[in-house]
Amino acid sequence: MSDHQSRSLTRRDALRGAAALCGLSLLSLGISEAQAAAPAQTGVTLLPDGRVQVTPSRVAALKKVGGVISLPPVKGIPAALRRTGRSTYVAVSLRCPHAGAMTTPQPTGFFCSAHGSRFNESGVVTQGPATSNLPKLPVTRSGSNIIVG
Ligand code: FES
Repeated sequence: MSDHQSRSLTRRDALRGAAALCGLSLLSLGISEAQAAAPAQTGVTLLPDGRVQVTPSRVAALKKVGGVISLPPVKGIPAALRRTGRSTYVAVSLRCPHAGAMTTPQPTGFFCSAHGSRFNESGVVTQGPATSNLPKLPVTRSGSNIIVG
């Protein structure tokens, strides 16, 4: 192989490498688009300012008192909304105050499987090691909608 051929191969290899990187970038874009295209939960809308709008009449889980749903991140905070009464709702951060693991909404409250903390339906700690409640998020009404955040 001459010196010239060696350089040509190097250039060709570089072009192939660049093409492969472009392919990987497109593949990444494809995955992102697929994730972005995943259907959102009916009745739940992420607003441009990061708050989340929920239309309870369109969310089956919120048609009964005690029903709870996980929300898209509210201003970046993983959150849940629970119906606590005929027309009352509470939203809490799902981030455990003990060491930051994600808690899981359950019929009677929230559970953190990292170290076993439990919280009641309103996010009040009922079993440690957590020593503080799940942070509440602002909930306001706007017509037939609930705005969280
Ligand atoms: S992080 Fe939740 S109990 Fe420790």
